[in-house]
Amino acid sequence: MTRILVFGKNGQLATALAKAEFGSEIELIFIGSTEFNLIQNVLGIHQYIINSNSFDAVINASAYTDVDKAEMQNAQDAWVLNALVPRQMAQACKLLQIPFIHVSTESVFSGLETTPYTPTSKTNPANFYGLTKLKGEYWVNAVNGMGAVFRTSWVFSNTGNNFVKTILRVAKKNDVIQVVDDQIGLPIYAPDLAAALLAVIRFTVSRPTEKLYPTYHIAGGGRPINRYDYAKLIVQLSGLKTNIVPISSNQFAAIAPRPKNAVLDTGSFTSKFNIDLPDWQIGLKHMFSKVG
Ligand SMILES: NC(=O)c1ccc[n+]([C@@H]2O[C@H](COP(=O)([O-])OP(=O)(O)OC[C@H]3O[C@@H](n4cnc5c(N)ncnc54)[C@H](OP(=O)(O)O)[C@@H]3O)[C@@H](O)[C@H]2O)c1
Repeated sequence: MTRILVFGKNGQLATALAKAEFGSEIELIFIGSTEFNLIQNVLGIHQYIINSNSFDAVINASAYTDVDKAEMQNAQDAWVLNALVPRQMAQACKLLQIPFIHVSTESVFSGLETTPYTPTSKTNPANFYGLTKLKGEYWVNAVNGMGAVFRTSWVFSNTGNNFVKTILRVAKKNDVIQVVDDQIGLPIYAPDLAAALLAVIRFTVSRPTEKLYPTYHIAGGGRPINRYDYAKLIVQLSGLKTNIVPISSNQFAAIAPRPKNAVLDTGSFTSKFNIDLPDWQIGLKHMFSKVG
């Protein structure tokens, strides 16, 4: 039996991990903010993992993910959870000689390049959230333990906050909505991200001496899409009649800038772990079939 400690409990990724099908050989134990507030007890995390000493791997699905609040009013919380906490986790895992699977974001990139970002592309965070996540990555890699950083992008599911749910909420209330058409990305359905990470766990636990690259990219299979076309697809699948009008990022007053190009190149991930990443549009239809 492989026992995995997962930080994050009610978030998108953690919820998908909890619902994932992985048979009886894997047991996941979830720690949310109620059980252990990571922001309030940064130094305690190390001891917590060491004391438990009964896990074969740790997945960090916790993060401060409100990009606009991270930019201004809650910058300190974002810094603590995204930058400082992963270092403590990575150090404890290294001491226990167990893999640490850390999740990061496309926001570590500026989004100004015109081609998909590979794991070795130059980082230059688009916003403060991206900066905090980049610092977390830096420290996880500096600890140089087992495991790796897995960047992902545009995660959606029926849980929590995400673009799909926001568009649905706004489209239900309005006849016309404006959506930016100059931000392009490759979404991923949270259950597909969860399945990919569980495949990583199986891989690392069965080949403990095999060295991984420091960083991999996981995004949905299929074609990238801009937010305007994405919103049109969401509205069409929902059966709503809302009219979507394209605007530019300059016309949309977001507090934190978003990368214009958020497309991640997943080639090194799929070849290393021999995984097919399902087309995100299949995930989107599956999400809609769940809400009815
Ligand atoms: N969402 C996206 O579009 C996206 C895109 C790129 C990368 N990512 C990355 O993917 C990962 C998972 O994202 P997600 O969408 O699943 O995030 P999410 O839905 O916002 O969930 C965040 C998780 O962090 C936990 N958390 C927050 N504050 C905490 C605290 N003070 N103490 C302990 N736990 C705390 C929450 O715990 P509770 O369970 O207690 O609420 C929750 O489980 C993150 O690393 C994120 O940066 C996400």
